[in-house]
Amino acid sequence: MELISKEVAAELNQQIGREFRAMLQYLAIANYFHRETLPELAKYFYAQSDEERTHGLKVIQYLHDTGADLDIPGVEKCQYRFSTVEEAVSFSLNEEVELSKCINKLASLARKKDDFATENFLQFFIKEQLEEISSMEDLLATVKRAGPDRLLLVEEYILRKKGSANLRLGE
Ligand SMILES: [Fe+2]
Ligand SMILES: [Fe+2]
Repeated sequence: MELISKEVAAELNQQIGREFRAMLQYLAIANYFHRETLPELAKYFYAQSDEERTHGLKVIQYLHDTGADLDIPGVEKCQYRFSTVEEAVSFSLNEEVELSKCINKLASLARKKDDFATENFLQFFIKEQLEEISSMEDLLATVKRAGPDRLLLVEEYILRKKGSANLRLGE
């Protein structure tokens, strides 16, 4: 039985495409850092890429649960070349902001359709986007503060982020 409308299912399929595009885009950015010999930045973005894959899979599982058809669109080419670390990180931040707008649009479509299951499902993504934007903004601020000649400080920051420098109150 199909529990969600065709329109919502179509938009969720588009979202899977966007998550997988983000997966490839982060892989491309990780590769750029890898080649620049910035292993912590590379690891950070390889992990981001894995997360985007998980997001795509979550939506696939949701379509499965609701009996909707899977129809993932083709993925646009990613950007592979960056001239600076700051450019790559600020590019990532913009991508996350755009992704958030898409999630919000999806949530408002679900609400308009009285599709409470989808609205509820999307709460995870709304929370996730907020966290991703926040941590990407922190990373960008750190990259700017360090400047292009002191990128090892950024590497240091990412290493420490796993410990005490990752300040998240109430968690
Ligand atoms: Fe995502
Ligand atoms: Fe993301």
